[in-house]
Amino acid sequence: MTLEAHRSGYDEATYARLATDTAAIVARYPEKRSALLPMLHLVQSEDGYVSRDGIAFCAEQLGITAAEVSAVATFYTQYKRHPNGTYTVGVCTNTLCAIMGGDEIFDELSEHLGVGHDETTDDGAITLERVECNAACDYAPVVMVNWEFFDNQTPAGATQLADRLRAGEDVAPTRGAASVCTFKQMSRVLAGFSDGRADEGVGAGRPTLAGLRLAREHDWTAPAGAAPEQVDGSATDAGAAAAEGASAVGQEQSSAERRPTTPADATGATPDASKGKQP
Ligand code: FES
Repeated sequence: MTLEAHRSGYDEATYARLATDTAAIVARYPEKRSALLPMLHLVQSEDGYVSRDGIAFCAEQLGITAAEVSAVATFYTQYKRHPNGTYTVGVCTNTLCAIMGGDEIFDELSEHLGVGHDETTDDGAITLERVECNAACDYAPVVMVNWEFFDNQTPAGATQLADRLRAGEDVAPTRGAASVCTFKQMSRVLAGFSDGRADEGVGAGRPTLAGLRLAREHDWTAPAGAAPEQVDGSATDAGAAAAEGASAVGQEQSSAERRPTTPADATGATPDASKGKQP
């Protein structure tokens, strides 16, 4: 069968595959146009950035104009308007990480890789970025690789990490998943297609729980609070689960160990640890 280019620029086979994914995404929303954010991640998973073809595809599928799609794609920094590297290396230079050495890490990486903010190395391996706070201040300074945590970094450690990524070696984040996936794979997850790895590894480590340990040592307690209520006055499932699970906190734990609060949490599906780094 001859593959014909579609109006969006994708060949028939690619178009059909993306259209199937689009139907799954759109089905989550009452209005088609509300699916635009995950759709932009979907086209990034195909092209490695939000391409002209991707914009035309989103516009056509969602019944909006290319200008409307572009307006959103240019607003959020997670959407790339030029080809991204296999790995986005994001150095947090927000307040706490900056104080703890984030700026030095960024400067060292920038000089070592020969690229600046939002620029990609010649081999296409790494796009370097300054990023804002990643809610990991207790591990400052933090470097993210495709949104996986590399805690308590130093300039030397970060350059070594970058060298290993460029050499195609497997690298293990400090917390969370056991390996780092590619930018395209990550984009597909952000489009809402789970790779089954979201609950891998430890989430809350010792620094995160330091306050809790201190409170226990000193027998400090917080005033009892009411569980969130629904409009009819009854406790929500999430509120009741939080209240019941309060006594279980205080140890290093994976998000996989938390009490299920939604039907999706309670499927019992076991993450497949073999779904690690792919070519
Ligand atoms: S300031 Fe860097 S993670 Fe919060």
